[in-house]
Amino acid sequence: MKLTVVGGGSTYTPELIDGFARLRDTLPITELVLVDPAADRLDLVGGLARRIFARQDHGGKIATTTDLDAGVEGADAVLLQLRVGGQAAREQDETWPLECGCVGQETTGAGGLAKALRTVPVVLDIAERVRRTNPDAWIIDFTNPVGIVTRALLQAGHKAVGLCNVAIGFQRKFARLLDVAPADVHLDHVGLNHLTWERAVRIGGPEGENVLPRLLAEHGDAVADDLRLPRPVLDRLGVVPSYYLRYFYAHDEVVRELGTKPSRAAEVAAMERELLEMYGDPALDEKPALLAKRGGAFYSEAAVDLAASLLGGGGSPYQVVNTYNNGTLPFLPDDAVIETQAAVGAHGATPLPVAPVDPLYAGLIANVTAYEDLALEAALRGGRDRVFKALLAHPLVGQYAYADGLTDRLIAHNREHLAWA
Ligand code: G6P
Ligand code: MN
Repeated sequence: MKLTVVGGGSTYTPELIDGFARLRDTLPITELVLVDPAADRLDLVGGLARRIFARQDHGGKIATTTDLDAGVEGADAVLLQLRVGGQAAREQDETWPLECGCVGQETTGAGGLAKALRTVPVVLDIAERVRRTNPDAWIIDFTNPVGIVTRALLQAGHKAVGLCNVAIGFQRKFARLLDVAPADVHLDHVGLNHLTWERAVRIGGPEGENVLPRLLAEHGDAVADDLRLPRPVLDRLGVVPSYYLRYFYAHDEVVRELGTKPSRAAEVAAMERELLEMYGDPALDEKPALLAKRGGAFYSEAAVDLAASLLGGGGSPYQVVNTYNNGTLPFLPDDAVIETQAAVGAHGATPLPVAPVDPLYAGLIANVTAYEDLALEAALRGGRDRVFKALLAHPLVGQYAYADGLTDRLIAHNREHLAWA
């Protein structure tokens, strides 16, 4: 089995390699190609990747290349984990929205729109080149914003599934708190990428007993602390929102906080310098502990599970993925992309039925879906008006004066990445 990772020079890659090595029985990789435009990073990351495989006696071959077409040749699956403009562009996304009193974040709000506009054309070009060489290859998209990027891929007819580590993170955390095996924890996970709620935590599968009330009663403080939301909010809702909901439920508090500290991009850039230096050490042959300070925990396990199932192997029967709604949430268009539990196999991902969604969550889901629709239009067709409309539709923006101010800044800060600007 041959796998290609586009954005393979990412400092996250050793997390992925570590998972590939540990879980080789689930996903038997014979050939792994890391593709990245940054040759220097590829050398460092590729070197460590080979040492991790060697230490764990993994016989798979690891190659690195800056040539995308050569790198995807013959791949059964292609993982996209790229970041157009790198941490420097992310730093912008996290900063200029604050000037308008709006949240600065890489996937939520105006910063997320900027990222979508930079990313969608690049990803579509890559996918087209994958399809030309390997029409049967699966594309697994980790590239943010995952909901919008996956929708762009599916709309263009690609064999694609979107993936995020939020759900697997909750699954692992709840398993630890409940002292059960992670595979026994089945989440009733509803919403859109980075806009989800865990409405039930079932033991053993989709029909298992819901232990969420007990989990909240016994471990509510730990869960609330992690999300940085007040425990009474969780108790009143009776569900566990993802930490991205804090940008909505505590928007003004977050804006104040972000104004007083360095951006996450700056933090990550500093960590990346340190990580790359470590990766250059020929004695290092495992993923360093520092990598745990990044947001990608369990990302490799989710990726292995998904790739194994898509390629006809032994992944978990149900997985949380991003795919077409197709009637799953009846209040959304069929071609909206939702993040949901799905049966995954060689045919792709088929969402499991979802119990009716409370208006408290359905309203926000529908609102953000409309924004994502307009955001994709803006990414595909460009133009100031389309950017403005997407921002006006966003529940965290909503007023024309904010939308105008944010549109001007978004275009000014991203001109080099936007063909139409
Ligand atoms: C989580 C999210 C990812 C996001 C990452 C950011 O893993 O699911 O979509 O890219 O956090 O982590 P970072 O360490 O870059 O802030
Ligand atoms: Mn994510």
